[in-house]
Amino acid sequence: MTLIRSELIGFGHYLPAKVLTNDDMAKMVDTNDEWISTRTGIKSRHVAAENEFTSDISLIAANNALKSANISAQDLDMIIVATVTTDDTTPSTAAKISGKLGTRSGTITTDISAACSGFVYALTMADNMIRLGQIKTAMVIGAETLSKITDWTDRNTCVLFGDGAGAVILRACEGEGKASDKGVLATKLYADGSHYEQLKTTGGVSTTQKAGFITMDGKEVFKFAVNALTQAAENVMEQAGVSSEDIDWLLPHQANARIIENVGKKLNLPDEKVIVTIDHTANTSAATIPVALSEEIANGHIKKGDLVVLTAMGAGFTWGGALVRI
Ligand code: UT7
Repeated sequence: MTLIRSELIGFGHYLPAKVLTNDDMAKMVDTNDEWISTRTGIKSRHVAAENEFTSDISLIAANNALKSANISAQDLDMIIVATVTTDDTTPSTAAKISGKLGTRSGTITTDISAACSGFVYALTMADNMIRLGQIKTAMVIGAETLSKITDWTDRNTCVLFGDGAGAVILRACEGEGKASDKGVLATKLYADGSHYEQLKTTGGVSTTQKAGFITMDGKEVFKFAVNALTQAAENVMEQAGVSSEDIDWLLPHQANARIIENVGKKLNLPDEKVIVTIDHTANTSAATIPVALSEEIANGHIKKGDLVVLTAMGAGFTWGGALVRI
């Protein structure tokens, strides 16, 4: 049976030039490298300059992805940006990037707000539009300048987050409906709004007219994350009829190295197959998965044909997974 799939044809990322190490953090709040490293796995994070916005870092990632796909901005039918740190309240960051890239009139643009699950949500939506035949080529970006909504005086949160942008280009291709196909093989999204208060900003456009700062009930989020990330990964593997042994890489959201380790164990995957980038990025919310994917392809770890499980969980709560063959 022939069907339409979305193949992943281009990858790009960008991390801002400024780096803050754990020792730098210790000069700002009452913390130390030992606490941050052992509790989270984070060693350093990238932080955008004051005049560097989500659209700026996205644009670099977007151009890198176009180059790697060997296509032009004119070929894009859609740009979708997953972010909780939009440049302006409206229009979308995707619209700004579209204007700067010089896409043709008619290229559709929108942002998605699903926090750390944002990239998996955006990928799922783009994949569905491609499979329905509504579009042929989509750029899916996950980008955040979380430093702008971080309370730099709160040691409970400020050591955890970082900035970055990643972009992936999807294009319609033919598949046979088998796990051996290339591209997006399965996706699954979840949400449970009863956890709204457990991970949120202290304000927003309608409530306070300010973006607010990130707050969370870390222990509750941790417990939920381990189960949610595992559930989403298991679901997409089951949909495609593959098991842990068939998987080349697990790429989980990077919020805490201990969460990642627990998820890897629950899925019976050896450490060598579990991608960990949190040491140099910290938690970059929606940017996490596309940045890690682009980095791991660029450094030769992930190769063409590899089967990769993406799984993410974040504020809402939202969570979801995707199984992709590169
Ligand atoms: O991206 C969305 C998903 N997010 C997550 O998945 C995050 C999930 N949660 C976590 O990763 C962890 O819960 C944290 C890393 C946020 C916290 O780790 P924890 O092991 O749960 O620590 P805790 O919150 O129980 O805090 C333990 C102690 C507290 O001191 P007392 O009350 O025991 O004296 C904190 O005040 O550690 C203290 N503490 C710190 N100490 C040094 C909290 N932050 C720091 C810090 N440096 N930066």
